[in-house]
Parts: sequence; C-alpha cells; structure tokens
Amino acid sequence: MAHMSMLLPFVAGPLRGLLETPGVTDVLVNGPDEVWIDRGMGLERASVGFCSAGDVRELAVRLASLGGRRLDDACPLVDARLPDGTRLHAALPPVVDGCAAISLRTVRRGALTLDDLELCGTLAPGLAPVLAGLVAGRASLLITGATGSGKTTLLASLLSLVDPSERIVVIEEAGEVNPTHPHVVRLVERRANVDGAGAVEVSRLVREALRMRPDRIVLGECRGPEVRDVLTALNTGHRGGMATLHANAPADVPARLAALGALAGMDARATDLHAAAAFEAVIHLEKTSAGRRVTEIAILRADEGRRSARLRVRAALHVGADGRTEVGPAWPEIEALLPEAWEGTAALGIAA
Ligand SMILES: Nc1ncnc2c1ncn2[C@@H]1O[C@H](COP(=O)(O)OP(=O)(O)OP(=O)(O)O)[C@@H](O)[C@H]1O
Ligand SMILES: [Mg+2]
Repeated sequence: MAHMSMLLPFVAGPLRGLLETPGVTDVLVNGPDEVWIDRGMGLERASVGFCSAGDVRELAVRLASLGGRRLDDACPLVDARLPDGTRLHAALPPVVDGCAAISLRTVRRGALTLDDLELCGTLAPGLAPVLAGLVAGRASLLITGATGSGKTTLLASLLSLVDPSERIVVIEEAGEVNPTHPHVVRLVERRANVDGAGAVEVSRLVREALRMRPDRIVLGECRGPEVRDVLTALNTGHRGGMATLHANAPADVPARLAALGALAGMDARATDLHAAAAFEAVIHLEKTSAGRRVTEIAILRADEGRRSARLRVRAALHVGADGRTEVGPAWPEIEALLPEAWEGTAALGIAA
C-alpha cells in the first residue's frame, strides 16, 4: 500500500500543494476558478485554478479511479477513500449544477495526544488522567456530542493509549479513525454495487469482529441497527470497547439509543437495560465558541421498574462554561473504574 499512498500527489494536479499544506482539512472545488480550503478558520478561497471545467471533471474521474471507483454519466456521484486515507466526494453535472464538484477531506496522520487536547483547551486540567485511567481500567466508553464536536478525534486519541500488546478491531462506515497504535484491524462497510449486490453492513461487521480475537471492539459511529450488535458484544464479556454516538446533550443519549435500538427491533426496556450494562462511562463533547470541549463525564444507569426500565445519564464530572470542573453524584462510580494506582480527586485540582 505504501507505493499507492505516494500516488495522490501526482494525481491531484493543481490541488497537490493545497493537500500538502499543514493544517488543511478540506479542499473543495466548485469550478475551474473556484477552489476553497478549510484550515480551521472557516473557508478561504485558494489561489489555484484549472484551465477549464473539463479539467475539473477529468481530475474528479482520475481521483475516483484512484479510489477504485467509477465516475461517469451513468454513475455521476462517488464517495470513496483514496489510498492515503483522504475522503473523496465527487459529483458530475447534471447532478451538480454547472461544473463537476470535488470535496476532499484529509486525514490527520497520527492521532492528537491527550496533552495536545489539553493544550488546545479541549480537556480541562485534570481530565486527561481520568480519561487515561478509564482506558487503562478497560472501561467501555461511549463518546457523545453534536456533529463535528470532535468525537472521532477523541476516539482516536483514546485508542492511542491502549496498551500496544492489545488487538483493536475498528468497525467504520468510512476509514476515519486513525489511532497511533501498532495493532489495529479496520473493517469498513461496503455499499451495494450498481446491481444492488455485495453490500456488507456495519451490523454484520460487528458480529464478524467478535470472531477476530479482539481485545477492544470499536464502532466508529453508532448510527443504525448495529447498536444492537454492539450492545450485545459489550454485554458478553468484551470489555474496553468504545463507540461514538451523535447526541446534542448528555440528556439526549437515552432517546438516541432508544431510537437506534428501535431500528434493530429492540424495545425501549431492552435497549435501556443493555445500554446501561454495556457502557460504563459517557464522555460528552460540545462545540463552543471557544472551541471543542469535553463538558461531561457521566455514567448510564437503568432504574428498573417492574415493566419498564428508565435509562438515566448521571454526571460524574461536569466542566462549566468558565472551564471549572465540578464533581457530580456519579463520581464514585467513575472512580471505581480507574486502576488502583489512580491518584484520586487530587489530580483534578478540585475538592470532591
Ligand atoms: N480538539 C480539537 N481541536 C481542534 N480541531 C479538532 C478537535 N477535535 C476535532 N477537530 C477537528 O474538527 C473536525 C471534526 O472532528 P471529528 O470528525 O472528530 O468530529 P465528529 O464529532 O466525529 O464529527 P461527525 O459528527 O461528523 O462524526 C475535524 O476536522 C477535526 O480535525
Ligand atoms: Mg465522527
């Protein structure tokens, strides 16, 4: 694969320099003289261009074929992963108005460390050792947050802390999770071909992963019926797994899980009980005006009635808008998950 990853710079033509600029996460082409980049400060117009709309179309087709996909009038949309991990989306007219549209999302080489995350303010002081303790203690973790809040990035950072002797199996929709770890097997969903055949769904991949002798099962994103398979896996002795889930606030987690469970035919009571037993901690991220922040570490608890169970999220640590960390009622449960050598609340710099 190494030689393949060298190909993108040659295929990328005028976009090459942009893709190689440090900090650039997105390169977008809307037309021959309309190229945009994002390097964390919103979209900026780039000063490169193409001679004609035909050249843009030609590049889109070349990139698609580098990703092993076809792009032509019969098949005018493509969503592919290039050999170096870059995500490609391309659309040809008339599905897109005017000129072919190319969207490239680069992947970060190597994950951010917890120190990086603390430096950029994502982790309040004292949270990094708690997160590292949860990974070392093999707690099963659910990372939640709104779109673009940094869930996948934090997941990769936490996986990078996993002992190098452990085998991590990551199941994803698109290869996005990039931990710095020597032993990662990635299973990526495959969509049906033009004849509607050959699809391999995420649920199936979760079940296959169980037979691959994983030490850690990781689901890049819970977004469909595979939630059932993940809950089953984590409830049958596979501790230390991790997953991300889209939820705007910690209080929304039970309803989101119930909605996904329903897609897999689970009733709400079963989802609540399974989820509470499967995930030992919830780590919630928010995208604030001051950047992406971990705002809460919580636990899931199912309060069981005779016929129903009700899943609740109970805060263990909450980071307020002022950046101060407060201990919540569920802190003892989180503390119990940390390895024995854990220095205790003192490391948080706060009084319990
Ligand atoms: N702590 C951070 N500091 C700076 N940039 C970050 C941080 N976390 C994530 N990013 C950037 O923000 C973008 C979105 O991050 P990420 O994909 O992790 O979010 P997500 O919550 O998984 O999004 P989605 O809902 O699309 O799955 C990426 O470009 C990533 O590099
Ligand atoms: Mg994500």
